[in-house]
Amino acid sequence: MKVDGTHYRTIWPDPDGRRVIILDQTLFPHRFETVALETVDEAAHAIRAMLVRGAPLIGATAAYGVALALRDDPSDQCLSRAIINLSGTRPTAINLRWALDRMQLRLAPLTPAERAAAAWREAATICDEDVAINAAIGDNGLPIIEGIAGKKGGAPVNILTHCNAGWLATVDWGTATAPIYKAHDKGIAVHVWVDETRPRNQGAFLTAWELGRHGVPHTVIVDNAGGHLMQHGRVDMVIVGTDRTTARGDVCNKIGTYLKALAARDNGVPFYVALPTPTIDWTVDDGVAGIPIEDRSGDEVRRIAGLAADGQVAAVDLLPPGSAAANPAFDVTPARLVTALITERGVVPATAEGVARLRPDV
Ligand code: MRU
Repeated sequence: MKVDGTHYRTIWPDPDGRRVIILDQTLFPHRFETVALETVDEAAHAIRAMLVRGAPLIGATAAYGVALALRDDPSDQCLSRAIINLSGTRPTAINLRWALDRMQLRLAPLTPAERAAAAWREAATICDEDVAINAAIGDNGLPIIEGIAGKKGGAPVNILTHCNAGWLATVDWGTATAPIYKAHDKGIAVHVWVDETRPRNQGAFLTAWELGRHGVPHTVIVDNAGGHLMQHGRVDMVIVGTDRTTARGDVCNKIGTYLKALAARDNGVPFYVALPTPTIDWTVDDGVAGIPIEDRSGDEVRRIAGLAADGQVAAVDLLPPGSAAANPAFDVTPARLVTALITERGVVPATAEGVARLRPDV
């Protein structure tokens, strides 16, 4: 997507062929800075410390992390070490494992002499595919927004989203935002309610930033406002992303997504989940029982950072000294609360039969 007229992806190889460039998302929205990753350890750190985040971008960064590792040492041992190192960075987004499995499958049979170049090519292919997948999610979700717009006689379609499943969470386009960008670009009036998404504020810091840069009307709300807005008919649909979708259609996404789904069901508001098929975990049915939920530091709850009056970014303490803070980062929305899954292969019901239609071999 464009930033001040320049087209950006969230990750790309440096033309020097030795480094990978990312946007440091911990600095948004106050600073827009790139960071060069030079080693697999730096790639692992970027994922763990959330300089990059969002399920598809985590996978893409891990793929480039393998390429960085093999650049100077293409041995079997180095390949295994890199994959073990990267796979321990974040537990919930299945795209991480998907990308590492794909790199392993592609690279392990090659001779060490062939590996480095093949790793860079495969990582680039994963990125290009992600862009194409998300554009297709946009095309497949667009008719849903168009349908609602038609019923509203051209009045803006009010869409609520949680966290950041935008282009910053992917290589480009985003998942939940792709249908929104496509609708906006087509001249359909949309307005997005952006959940701030405590504790890391991906909605307030990232989604609001990228929608604003693209000119999409939006309003940031506190995480608890969605239910109230739905009760008053001010939300036409919800679209969120997912870090892992099970074979029966349960979806795991940023903490708080489940509560939005409950409120949507109680108010008859359609609740859509947009996902690339690499986000499906075919080995898990029951998401509540089977998906590992990342437990992040309580410091993310205790402290918040923002722009101070002197123009500097400053962090402040929120809690009384001594209060404990818990920080589960994701929750699971059961399939029964999901209206449909919007994927690059079409819109399917969130059921075992619907998800089965998305199997790569079907
Ligand atoms: O902790 P984060 O910022 O990586 O969480 C991101 C989300 O929850 C997104 O909604 C999800 O990864 C889908 S991204 C297209």
